[in-house]
Amino acid sequence: MKKIVSFLLALVLLCSALPFAASAASGAKLVAITFDDGPSKHTATLLDGLKARGAKATFFCVGYNASAYPKTLKRIVDEGHQLANHTSTHPELPSLSSASIKKEIDNCNKYLAAAAGAQTFYLRPPYGAYNKTVRNVCGSPIILWSVDTLDWKYRNANTVYNNIINQTKDGSIILLHDLYKTSVEGALRAIDTLQARGYEFVTVKELLRRRGITPQNGTVYSSAPNKGINLPALGAVKTPTLTLSDTLGGKTVTLTCETKDAAIYYTTDGSKPTTASKKYGAPFLLSASATVNAVAYANGGYSEIKSQSITLPKAPAPTVTFSERVISLSVPSGTTIYYTTDGTAPSTASTVYTAPITAAVTTKLLVRASGMEDRRLSLTFTKYGELFNDISEAAWYYDAVSEAAHQKLMVGIGDMAFGPDKVVTRATFVTVLSRICGADTAAAPQSRFTDVAPNSWYTAAVNWAANEGIVYGISDTAFAPDKALSREEMCAMLHRFLEKYNYDFPKGEVLAFTDAATISDWAAPSVTAIQQIGLVSGVGNGQFAPKLTATRAQCARIFVSLSNLMTQYNP
Ligand code: NI
Repeated sequence: MKKIVSFLLALVLLCSALPFAASAASGAKLVAITFDDGPSKHTATLLDGLKARGAKATFFCVGYNASAYPKTLKRIVDEGHQLANHTSTHPELPSLSSASIKKEIDNCNKYLAAAAGAQTFYLRPPYGAYNKTVRNVCGSPIILWSVDTLDWKYRNANTVYNNIINQTKDGSIILLHDLYKTSVEGALRAIDTLQARGYEFVTVKELLRRRGITPQNGTVYSSAPNKGINLPALGAVKTPTLTLSDTLGGKTVTLTCETKDAAIYYTTDGSKPTTASKKYGAPFLLSASATVNAVAYANGGYSEIKSQSITLPKAPAPTVTFSERVISLSVPSGTTIYYTTDGTAPSTASTVYTAPITAAVTTKLLVRASGMEDRRLSLTFTKYGELFNDISEAAWYYDAVSEAAHQKLMVGIGDMAFGPDKVVTRATFVTVLSRICGADTAAAPQSRFTDVAPNSWYTAAVNWAANEGIVYGISDTAFAPDKALSREEMCAMLHRFLEKYNYDFPKGEVLAFTDAATISDWAAPSVTAIQQIGLVSGVGNGQFAPKLTATRAQCARIFVSLSNLMTQYNP
């Protein structure tokens, strides 16, 4: 029972640490050989021997030797071994105060960090002696051993060899000291024998990782036998390769992995790929810019993540011309344009553009080119034959926009756009008011506003409106032409505009808005007057929303109503 619980615990730890739930177990037998109390003059010979055998070891150094052998420390790190802490002066830690224990560890770490960079160095307390205080203050995993060679006692290479061979099992941590020539000789011979028996010599850190153990500070580890999780070595699964090829409508992504039988998982939304992500089966088309992240998974292990950000240019836009409900397109070279006139989205099965398109309200285009993102355009004629690329026949504002454009109250905002959802500025609103009443704006004297440039497209209209008392500005000297118009400002301008033309306001029902208290005092009578004649109503839920800005589509409807009102009133 205990075994099952610990396996589940290990699995839980693994799942929290890795992007995958490892299932497959490889058959590798692992062992960690460790050397305490060094470095010494024998360490270089040991490192030569380890290098020749491709074996990795862990060195628990003491401060007084670490300080004497800085180059050896550096070599230990450079050759892929693990540097670890065996205190500064080799005391029995449980006999010390917390502060002294910490000092013993920190003083040694200083030398290790100089060689390996700052990190959490595993601790082996001298004599394997620890207590609760040591566990609490050490700030690192505590590593003991499962094979004691007693090399310091016998000082005999054969004894060292035999003690290793007789006691080592999968997952063992072997204790030696690189202070003695006999220890080095015995260890290297034992490595030869155990390698021949299929053992792989890894650092303690790697042993724990491959057994799915996430080491915890203050926890004691003496061995790491295979309990069902046996991950491959880092780098054992090759990182996937990503290649791109230009295809109509985008780029085709091909993923490959050199590792046999690897499964590749990928995402295209920038998120980290896991085994829950999409599994790669065949090359796929990327039809818009994206970041592709891919990971390979094999034998219970996974690769580094391949991450590539892919930018797709948009297919070039055709030049559109129209007259009398006939649309002509200039097709950019390298592109094919497909279209529909029945409102459905065009596809490559739709008609290919070869000649001008006749008489449809909405024409939808699909521009396709190799290696580029599709460009889609929707061209809609108004009721009177103007053409815009951002309106729809089904929209609530279609009639109002048609009328406003036809009566030239509002023109587009450029590039065939009407901008139905764009906000209306104070300057735009005043300009349209001047158009509605056909004002001779050029005749108006210059206004007092210092923020209205002399030759702007709206200057004459603002001069006219100021002179007529339709606008008062936002202060004595400022008009704020580019400020978005609020609904209460709009009501005030409309009210003054109609009063100016002696409009006899019929008294309709006064709506009681639930947010009436938020309407500015200077605007309140205008809001009531304009609401009563039905030019502006609430925004729903019984609210007026005085500070909300108005969109061009909303204003188109108001302008058309106002224009009709003016025509009826002043035929
Ligand atoms: Ni020691």
